[in-house]
Amino acid sequence: MATPVVLAESPSAAEFIGLRRLMGSPEVDEESATKTTKNAVFSVCLRDRGRLLGLARVVGDGVLYFYISDVVVHPELRGSGYGVVLMNAVMEYLKSAARPGAMVVVVPLKDRESFYERFGFRRCPDGQFGTGMYLPPIIGEADRPE
Ligand SMILES: CC(C)(COP(=O)(O)OP(=O)(O)OC[C@H]1O[C@@H](n2cnc3c(N)ncnc32)[C@H](O)[C@@H]1OP(=O)(O)O)[C@@H](O)C(=O)NCCC(=O)NCCS
Repeated sequence: MATPVVLAESPSAAEFIGLRRLMGSPEVDEESATKTTKNAVFSVCLRDRGRLLGLARVVGDGVLYFYISDVVVHPELRGSGYGVVLMNAVMEYLKSAARPGAMVVVVPLKDRESFYERFGFRRCPDGQFGTGMYLPPIIGEADRPE
């Protein structure tokens, strides 16, 4: 394997679907994948000769609200520092884009919190913030369009 390169670009819809499968995330259809990849405010890809081996994305309004999503490195490459490389690119983007008073959030998978703490993220509850919350899927398997 050549040394993978880090590129500030969006993955294709098909690549996004493939990486989500790798993470064990719920399946998304091609239309949703196309929309979400286009609408991210920042994406960074890790590629080896064109093959997508890692991704990190930021979605939000690009000025005040930012949500970090889909941080993933292919299992073949884990533990070699590429997760940090991807997150460093995300942090550089945030430094340039976030305006005073901006809110940046991530909802780590269980026990992944320490990966984000090295970049300055704090666990909730903290200070003025309560425990983070999320809404369980609003479209269940039974309601999913054909
Ligand atoms: C989390 C993930 C992106 C890290 O990528 P990686 O390339 O393996 O990470 P790195 O090699 O850059 O490791 C950087 C540091 O993070 C730590 N780390 C790696 N995986 C971790 C995990 N799952 N939880 C907590 N810390 C982790 C490493 O121990 C390392 O610490 P060190 O520098 O003190 O040794 C990768 O393990 C992955 O894709 N996991 C599956 C998807 C996932 O969990 N994504 C995050 C969702 S919130």
